[in-house]
Amino acid sequence: MDRAFPGNAAILPAQLFRRCTMIELVKPALEHLPSYKAALERGWSPDNVRLEQATREQLAAIEMDPVAFLADLDDPLAKGGPITLPDGRKVPRLPGFRRWIWDGEASGSIGFRWQTGTAALPRHVLGHIGYAVVPWKRRRGYATEALRLMLDEARAVGLPYVEITAKPDNPASHKVILTNGGKLVERFFEDAAYGGAESLRFRIEL
Ligand SMILES: CC(C)(COP(=O)(O)OP(=O)(O)OC[C@H]1O[C@@H](n2cnc3c(N)ncnc32)[C@H](O)[C@@H]1OP(=O)(O)O)[C@@H](O)C(=O)NCCC(=O)NCCS
Repeated sequence: MDRAFPGNAAILPAQLFRRCTMIELVKPALEHLPSYKAALERGWSPDNVRLEQATREQLAAIEMDPVAFLADLDDPLAKGGPITLPDGRKVPRLPGFRRWIWDGEASGSIGFRWQTGTAALPRHVLGHIGYAVVPWKRRRGYATEALRLMLDEARAVGLPYVEITAKPDNPASHKVILTNGGKLVERFFEDAAYGGAESLRFRIEL
């Protein structure tokens, strides 16, 4: 029995590996770009709604102007142009920024957006925080840790809580949210711009 960590005697090697795995959230910069681009080229999408279309668009944007591509990912003052919803409707951009989940290479992406002075979100915005981990690095605790780190950013903005939405058939995401203190608030139907599917809304008090 390990006396310093008595519980560790019962931990299997795989679980121990997961607990020890470290990631950080990095502000996307040129030094990270080759690794991020390689993940896109393997077919991963950082966008859970627009999927392959977003992957193609991002690869084209990186090719055209890498500096502008990176600048667009970090926009806490909402200086960028309007956002195009999946149905083509254009809506004003909210303040927000994206961080890349980094373990020495690009492992995923997590975004945070908010409205200044209120925790409320427009109906067409599916939650304050969204995330995706590259398929070849899932089930290592990366998303759980990335959300934990992003909650510090949300506290810094002054929000009393964040809302995160997840489809009913996404138990991995539910677990990420619940482990970070989330509570299920309601079942709802997504805005028609997203197709109106049923979804779950969770809230994490900050
Ligand atoms: C959801 C997602 C981000 C989870 O990333 P991840 O890094 O694998 O998550 P974690 O390793 O932190 O796992 C969280 C928990 O979910 C569990 N889990 C992971 N994949 C699972 C699956 N397919 N089914 C059931 N549980 C799963 C893990 O075992 C872990 O549970 P534990 O803490 O009890 O061990 C990842 O699957 C993903 O990118 N999916 C596609 C995009 C997406 O759905 N994003 C969320 C939109 S709301």
